[in-house]
This record gives sequence, C-alpha cells and structure tokens, in this order.
Amino acid sequence: MSWDERFSERYDEWSAHMTEDVAFYVELARATDRPLVELAVGNGRVAIPVAKATGRAVVGIDSSPAMLEQARVGAAAAGVTLELHEGDMRELALDEPAGLVYCPFRALLHLPTWGDRRRTFERVAASLRPDGRFAWNAFVYDYRVAALHDGKHQDAPVPHTVHHAMGENRIDIVGDDGAQSSLWWATKNEWLGLIDVAGFEVEALYGGFAGELFTDDSPEYVFVVRRSG
Ligand SMILES: C[S@@+](CC[C@H](N)C(=O)[O-])C[C@H]1O[C@@H](n2cnc3c(N)ncnc32)[C@H](O)[C@@H]1O
Repeated sequence: MSWDERFSERYDEWSAHMTEDVAFYVELARATDRPLVELAVGNGRVAIPVAKATGRAVVGIDSSPAMLEQARVGAAAAGVTLELHEGDMRELALDEPAGLVYCPFRALLHLPTWGDRRRTFERVAASLRPDGRFAWNAFVYDYRVAALHDGKHQDAPVPHTVHHAMGENRIDIVGDDGAQSSLWWATKNEWLGLIDVAGFEVEALYGGFAGELFTDDSPEYVFVVRRSG
C-alpha cells in the first residue's frame, strides 16, 4: 500500500523535520504569474506558505481525503486559497495550463512502477504552459542508511519499523499501529529516462534545497525541468 490513511493522523509529526524545502518551492512559485499546482498536496504543508507568499491560489491534488481535510482546515486558518481536488496524480488534468507543477517531499516515490511515473510525467507535460516548469525532490537511495535502519524499530518521529525489499526497490514504513506506507526509490537514470520520454529537459539538478551542486555524495535529487524545444 502506498499511503495508509492512518499516516494522516500524525502527519505533522512525520513531516516536522522537513522545513528547508518550503523556501525553495516558494521561490519557484514566485517566478511565474501563471497557475500553481502541487501534486500530492497532502495537508498543505508547502502549498499554504506558497499561497501566502504569492498571494495566489494553489491547486492541490491528492488521493487522501484525510490529508485534504487537513489542508482545507489549514488553508482556512491561514486565510489562503487552496483549490483542492481528490484525485490521482497519474490522472492529472487541469482546466488551465500551469506555470509551475511541483511535487515535494518525495511524494512521486509513492507511485509503485516506472509506468506509473511515466504516466504522471506525461500528464504533467500535457498540463504545463510551454514555458512552465515541473519541480520535485526525492532521496538518493543510500545502502549505508538502509543497512542502519532495515528491520530496526525506531521511536521517532512516530514509533515505526522500516523494511527494505531490495528486489522491488521498495521501502515499507510500518507504524506500531499497523499503518503502512511504501516508497519505491529511483535512480538518477530512472529520473532522466522519465524526463526524456515525457519531453522535458533538465533546467537544474540540485543536491539540496539551497541550490547545492548535485555531486556523488548528494543525499537528495532536486529537479527542475521544462518542456523541451
Ligand atoms: C509524504 S506526503 C506529501 C504531502 C505534501 N506534498 C508535503 O510535502 O508535505 C505524500 C502524499 O502523497 C499522496 N499520494 C500518494 N499517492 C498518490 C497518488 N497516486 N496521487 C495523489 N496523491 C497521492 C498521499 O495521500 C500523501 O498526502
């Protein structure tokens, strides 16, 4: 299962450590005056500050009713507009082409197969203006981190155990309450293949959210792409 609704209940705790991405996505949003779209918007952790900083609505798509409800409540409390839609990012269809589509916090890794991602990338390409951008981030799979965590119980941020299914390039996060969420990690060449088949070209690949050069030791892929030609 790629996303168990029970993860929504303590999502604030799961995501508390992730703050450095917000300014990065805000800057990208500020660079366009055209529609802004977040794939897998979740509870609006990024979309709400983006809407606040730009003074504009953000379209948010997510398959989880529980996460969308949190986003609704958060947006109302912050006094910003999120246009929230329950849906699957593989079926993305917009009323108006976007200036920016972005997908933070490794959410593309919730898609199980390369075909699911190809479909998503193709839908994003079809939903962008010619000068539009697509941005996302995903961790670089690190066998050293995997060896440290595989099968070991962790108390923080929420009690859970991580299991690695190597042959499936899948990581299962299993909460003590039984909730399970899976991520299918991807290599750099898989991302480049998706960029290629969807008709994008790389504008930037950073190794972090401060615009660090991507190197052999970077822990994160931070991609910004445009439609080619
Ligand atoms: C790690 S959260 C990211 C939430 C938010 N973007 C953030 O940065 O905090 C992953 C989100 O992906 C959503 N999700 C998983 N698979 C999806 C799919 N196929 N289509 C749309 N949303 C999906 C989940 O419901 C969940 O809200």
